[in-house]
Amino acid sequence: MATINDNYLKLPGSYLFAEIARRVAAYKEAHPEADIIRLGIGDVTQPLPQACIEAMHKAVDDQAKAETFHGYGPEQGYSFLTEAIIKNNYTDRGIEIAPDEIFVSDGSKSDCGNIQEIFGLANKVAITDPVYPVYLDTNVMAGRTGELQKDGHFEGVVYLPCTAENNFAPALPKEHVDMLYLCCPNNPTGTTLSREELTKWVNYAKENETVILFDAAYAAYITEEDVPRSIYEIPGAKDVAIEFRSFSKTAGFTGTRCGYTIIPKTVKGRAADGSLVSFNKLWNRRHTTKFNGTAYIVQRGAAAIYTEEGQKQVKELVSYYMENARVIREGLKAAGLEAYGGVNAPYIWLKTPKNMSSWDFFDKLLTEANIVGTPGAGFGPCGEGYFRLTAFGSHENTKRAVARFAKLKF
Ligand code: MLT
Repeated sequence: MATINDNYLKLPGSYLFAEIARRVAAYKEAHPEADIIRLGIGDVTQPLPQACIEAMHKAVDDQAKAETFHGYGPEQGYSFLTEAIIKNNYTDRGIEIAPDEIFVSDGSKSDCGNIQEIFGLANKVAITDPVYPVYLDTNVMAGRTGELQKDGHFEGVVYLPCTAENNFAPALPKEHVDMLYLCCPNNPTGTTLSREELTKWVNYAKENETVILFDAAYAAYITEEDVPRSIYEIPGAKDVAIEFRSFSKTAGFTGTRCGYTIIPKTVKGRAADGSLVSFNKLWNRRHTTKFNGTAYIVQRGAAAIYTEEGQKQVKELVSYYMENARVIREGLKAAGLEAYGGVNAPYIWLKTPKNMSSWDFFDKLLTEANIVGTPGAGFGPCGEGYFRLTAFGSHENTKRAVARFAKLKF
């Protein structure tokens, strides 16, 4: 009989957002009349920018004629998209990225999850706590961790606590780590790392030969000047960091799917024979073997965000959600709750009142206010006592949710 990958058995039953969806569905079945407002999973609600729609319609027409038809494209992405990304997000910000250092994909979640495949299994992994579950779960699946302990930590993983006490900025690990996941602006806390903080991390990585896996999916939401949009704004980062970016939150592509990963050729790891090998080379091998490219139509849509119109529309979209973030943050504070984030990110991280557990708070919100959020404990042990709300709802639902919060008794 075939055997299974036993590492999967180390994981808790279901993925965080699948578990939330299950609980909400059960509640809805028992209370079909409930008018539920969903501020749980970070899924966008507003339509795609018009520039993307038009570009995709045109791309569909291209597919209707033999002369403009596109079959398999380059696995790494069409140059009409990669060149636009490099120019707008890197060259114009003083960062040099070569055309063969970018890999377009069907979204950042896949890349953040798959990247660990090109790293050795003996590598020591560090994650922040709380953390976007994909980084941890995929390393558990790969066998880079031990068992889940009673305290909610996986054996063999270095956890870097991020709480209100340290302003959600993790301290450097006390022990050597090989792979380090950072997410900035942060999911779930909605907070950011300043240029100075990030410099500290890049220096650590250089001294320790660590690779930083930098998730910048929410970069478009940064409003403050001191927060780097890309880790490559930090001197030396091109030797130690891989960066993930997404069109999901930037341009409403959660259901359309497009993202990209930057792997500078200077980021290297050691092979068993002691030689240095570029991760770019390995990822290119993996990408071309396991992936056949993002759909032409989707890439045309993504490229349209870099047109003048597209840029304007994307900014409007981001402002729309950031207005929700402001409404939530201020509404929570007016209700007497401690709230963080929401200034450079579409997430608001709140302290549960009276030290209520985050799943108890989830139940209270769902049953008494019909609001769905995400319990902080689902993101790691240090998320216990916190709760995440997203700014991705409609204005109307966001205001209704805040009005319901104001009526809750804690
Ligand atoms: C979230 O709610 O954390 C996001 O939807 C995660 C994701 O983008 O996969």
